Amino acid sequence: MGICLATTSGKGGTGKSTISCGLSIAFSKMGKRVLLVDMDEGLRCLDLLLGVDHSVVFDLSDILNGAPIANATYTLPQNQLISVIPAPSEIGKISPELLREFAQKVKSIYDVVIFDFPAGLDFSLYTAIGDDAQFLTICNPDPVSVRDAAAVCARLPQTKCDARLIINRFDAEYIKRKIYNNIDDIIDISGFRLLGLVPQSSELMLLSVTHNINKKSKALKALYRIARRLCGESVRLPKVKKI
Ligand SMILES: Nc1ncnc2c1ncn2[C@@H]1O[C@H](COP(=O)(O)OP(=O)(O)O)[C@@H](O)[C@H]1O
Ligand SMILES: [Mg+2]
Repeated sequence: MGICLATTSGKGGTGKSTISCGLSIAFSKMGKRVLLVDMDEGLRCLDLLLGVDHSVVFDLSDILNGAPIANATYTLPQNQLISVIPAPSEIGKISPELLREFAQKVKSIYDVVIFDFPAGLDFSLYTAIGDDAQFLTICNPDPVSVRDAAAVCARLPQTKCDARLIINRFDAEYIKRKIYNNIDDIIDISGFRLLGLVPQSSELMLLSVTHNINKKSKALKALYRIARRLCGESVRLPKVKKI
């Protein structure tokens, strides 16, 4: 069985979908086949971020209603190792029972499956993707976002207590201006164990236009460090200035 990941955040717009796509690119550079499942019913975006939106005809609800998985699986023309299943365009189309069956099947096909969930504290679909799913809470370094991450930490289902934190849009200014003394302050407030930091990055901001990330960018290097940690490697955090 490969790696199964699921994104969470209290606040919207912390970068769950961007990080999901970024991690898929990083894992593909390691030769892994990655499936991204967009769970944001009514507000899908992974197809647009990765440039397959023009091809989309079917979505996750079609698969849950019996269509072959391949029918709603869109492989990136620029990277055959990454595929996307778009979220349904209407709300309320994902039932936990059917999702459980689907999750089991795709986990046996792909090296990495990433379920990109919407923000908020409704965890009703999270348990359906299986106990092996590693939960990634994405927060930004601003105090509101960090407090919301703590709210997620307090409410995640018991089985998900090994969930990890990714601090996205990190900027060393937060430390320079003494908003936090160091990164440990953010980790302590959130209540999670840290998995990694991703910098504020124009590369990531423009993902919906470029559909790729420059391999020399700090952003991809940061995502690559996270992907390696998720594969069990011990990868040190760089100095704050170098993130
Ligand atoms: N590291 C980053 N640097 C710059 N912009 C980012 C970064 N991560 C995300 N963004 C931007 O933040 C916005 C929200 O990101 P998105 O991935 O859609 O968040 P979510 O899925 O959590 O709602 C988007 O405009 C995206 O381009
Ligand atoms: Mg999103």
